[in-house]
Amino acid sequence: MVTNPVPIVLSGMRSTGKIHLGNYFGALKNWVELQSSYRCFYFAADWHALTSDYADPSRIAENTLEMVADWIGAGLDPERSVIFVQSMVPEHAELHLLLSMITPLGWLERVPTYKEQIRELANKDLETYGFLGYPVLQTVDIIIYRGDFVPVGEDQASHLEISREIVRRFNGLYGPLFPEPQALFTPTPKVPGIDGRKMSKSYGNAINLADPPEVIRAKCMEMFTDPQRLRRTDPGRPEVCNLYEFHRLMSTAEVQERVARECRAAEIGCVQDKRLLAEILIAALEPMRRRREAVMADRDTLMDILVEGSRKARERAAETMEQVRAALSLDYRRLTLSQKAVG
Ligand code: TRP
Repeated sequence: MVTNPVPIVLSGMRSTGKIHLGNYFGALKNWVELQSSYRCFYFAADWHALTSDYADPSRIAENTLEMVADWIGAGLDPERSVIFVQSMVPEHAELHLLLSMITPLGWLERVPTYKEQIRELANKDLETYGFLGYPVLQTVDIIIYRGDFVPVGEDQASHLEISREIVRRFNGLYGPLFPEPQALFTPTPKVPGIDGRKMSKSYGNAINLADPPEVIRAKCMEMFTDPQRLRRTDPGRPEVCNLYEFHRLMSTAEVQERVARECRAAEIGCVQDKRLLAEILIAALEPMRRRREAVMADRDTLMDILVEGSRKARERAAETMEQVRAALSLDYRRLTLSQKAVG
């Protein structure tokens, strides 16, 4: 097993379209920071999006572009990181097939998120071979680049564990080809949506990086606050206020302290506070939004970035596949060459 001179970080997101603050604080911000210490590979998992959206795949490609525009807007730099699309590296499919031969069904059925997702996304039939194999494909995504570290949220822990098990099994059967990927758990602050539940695209409670000022203002106005603060003169409780959670994420210590004090003393009303937060959010997101807009306005360049990133990714994946085929004695070319030499 050859270790990488500069450790490789690799991560992906399913192509779900525009990035919201939950994705940003939960992953993307960290991805941007990792670029200065590691060789980074970041990709749009469009085939993974297909595992749940197979009945209507018409938006997946467009969602990939919207998502990558947000990545670049937030600071992922195609000059420093390899930014690519899963389906543009078809080697993933080959290794997925090979790993599927050695992955016990029981491992996949026991992944805690498996049954849960089938229940939660009850409007979709997820009792498919592809959906069961989600963690196998995810394993491929990582090991085909011989990745060392995988920045993910805690929710991905069970997937990473399966990846490590599959790698151990592969290495045990065919020789120590792959390093065991290590999760790099992102310290994820809790990001609530405007209704106080977890921010999620499917709940319709998200603030997107692409939201223009008027949309952010409108969303802030809809935000839940302390449910017991009914009148302007009632003292508020920042510790239970959803709006205040956003101050914790976005505002300076000074603003947090002042808002908390004035809210408790009923010196600032919820509406005033919403206006204040809206302007803070708008100012914080403005540079990212401008960059992502410029990226989306020049789709040819965006496509060039993805094609070039995928070409680089493919080079590395192809190298790995040569070794994999040899390890499985499926390297026909070498077989015929050596026979020629013998004969
Ligand atoms: N399953 C991940 C998610 O839903 C996305 C993903 C696909 C991924 N392949 C990966 C993450 C490889 C890290 C590494 O967020």
